[in-house]
Parts: sequence; C-alpha cells; structure tokens
Amino acid sequence: MEHVVITGANRGIGLALATVFAQNGAFVHACCRRPSDATELNALAESTGQVDIHGLDVTSDESIQQAVQAIGSEVKQVDLLINNAGVNNQPGTRGLEQLSRLTLNTMIDNNATSALIVTQALYPLLKASAHPRVAMISSQIGAMSWVEPSRGYKGYGYAMSKAAMNMAARVLASELSGAGFTVVTIHPGWVRTDMGGDDADISPEESAAGIHRLLTTLTPAANGGFFKWNGEAHPW
Ligand SMILES: NC(=O)c1ccc[n+]([C@@H]2O[C@H](COP(=O)([O-])OP(=O)(O)OC[C@H]3O[C@@H](n4cnc5c(N)ncnc54)[C@H](OP(=O)(O)O)[C@@H]3O)[C@@H](O)[C@H]2O)c1
Repeated sequence: MEHVVITGANRGIGLALATVFAQNGAFVHACCRRPSDATELNALAESTGQVDIHGLDVTSDESIQQAVQAIGSEVKQVDLLINNAGVNNQPGTRGLEQLSRLTLNTMIDNNATSALIVTQALYPLLKASAHPRVAMISSQIGAMSWVEPSRGYKGYGYAMSKAAMNMAARVLASELSGAGFTVVTIHPGWVRTDMGGDDADISPEESAAGIHRLLTTLTPAANGGFFKWNGEAHPW
C-alpha cells in the first residue's frame, strides 16, 4: 500500500486530496495545524480507516520534527509527499506601497521554505520507498510566463513565494535525480476554496481527481516538470 503525506489536509484542496487518495487504496498521513478542529478530516478517517491525522504547522521546526517522528513510528517508508499547505493575501504583501520585509518574508517562509524543510525532514522515509515522489502544490502565479507586465498583477508575496517554491522543486529534482526520486510542481487550477473563492473555475474534487491521476501515473521522465492539475505541461 502506498503511503502518502499531505500538508494542509483539513480543508480545501488538501482535504479533497486526502479524500481521493484514501478512497483509492492509499494510506494517507494527513497533516494539519489543529487536528481536533478538523471535523471533515476526522470524519474521513473514521469512514475510510485509511487516514491518520497528525498535527503539523509547516512553519515550525519543532512541529515538523514531532509529525515526522509520529509518522516514522507508524511506517517504514513514505512514497509520496504532497506539500499543499499555503497562504495568500497576507496583509502587507500586495502593492508596492503596502509591502514590508517582514510580511514578504513570512509569506515566502510559509509557501516555499517550509515545503522544502518538510521535505528535508521526510527525506529518510521517502528514501526508503521504491518509487519516491514529491509534489509541490504551487500556482500559475509562480510562473514568469503568467505575470506578464500587461496583467497589472501586484501580489508580490504570493508570486515571489510560489516562484521560490517552483525553484525549490527544480533544485530538488536536480539533486535527487540520480536517487530515483520524481519531483514535480503542480498548478491545481483556480479552485473554489477559501483561498480561490466562489467564482473559481473548478471544485476541489475536480482538482484533486486530476492531481491524483497525475501523481499515480508519474514516470521518472516527469522529474523536474511543471504540470497543470489535468496533467498538461505548464509553462514556466
Ligand atoms: N484555490 C486556488 O485557486 C489555488 C490556486 C493555485 C494554487 N493554490 C494552492 O493550493 C494549495 C491549497 O490551497 P487551497 O485553495 O486549498 O487553500 P485554503 O482553502 O486556504 O487552505 C489552505 C490550507 O493550508 C493550510 N496552511 C496554511 N498555512 C499553514 C501552516 N503554516 N501549517 C500548516 N498548514 C497550513 C491551511 O490550514 P488552516 O486551516 O490551519 O489555516 C489549510 O489547510 C495552496 O498551496 C495554494 O497556494 C490554490
């Protein structure tokens, strides 16, 4: 059975990913900041028997160590890590006149640095898998090709953090290419979640179904790739 770790699994895309993986035979180590408040995730664990829930704030080294220790006490290997936890629209990260060093760095820490540190902490368990995979749930907004000057976009913190996440994935793919890892970056679509809002294009379930298909059919040739939720290549 495949063991999958998902961060930010209590709501939105993360919850939908936990659901589709658990319902399709994987065992999900679902991580979230406050397990006791994660009503839907607890219900999923109850109904499937395929989900363990772990407390994890991805910005806290102590929390990461505790979660990884707990997972490592249950399993000998992790086959797939999905770095999904993320934030957007933090005050002080949009518009040149609103920016501050602290708010920008907090956003980059949340969305990019933390995903890499979580990956580092899980590396020993991932290495033990016969087919280790790491997925970064990034965004089209991290792509140079999306932020064209004519777009008038001004979400510095989100765009910078997701561009940094994309590069973290590329460097990981490069470092680990000889070790049998497949590392990919994924744009999940514009999704109807708390972050994406009600007007977004697709439901969390549609996004998660596409990502599940992509991640369960990945070949090593995909290492270092940037994909849309539906499996199409995404331009950098
Ligand atoms: N929705 C979209 O249209 C869209 C588009 C492109 C990319 N994305 C990306 O997709 C991912 C999921 O987004 P979503 O739409 O599902 O967002 P969401 O509904 O706002 O959910 C965000 C998730 O991330 C968790 N999270 C945030 N900071 C965390 C931290 N420090 N430690 C642990 N968990 C943390 C949240 O936990 P709490 O409940 O504890 O806050 C929540 O589970 C994000 O990386 C986002 O950037 C989304």
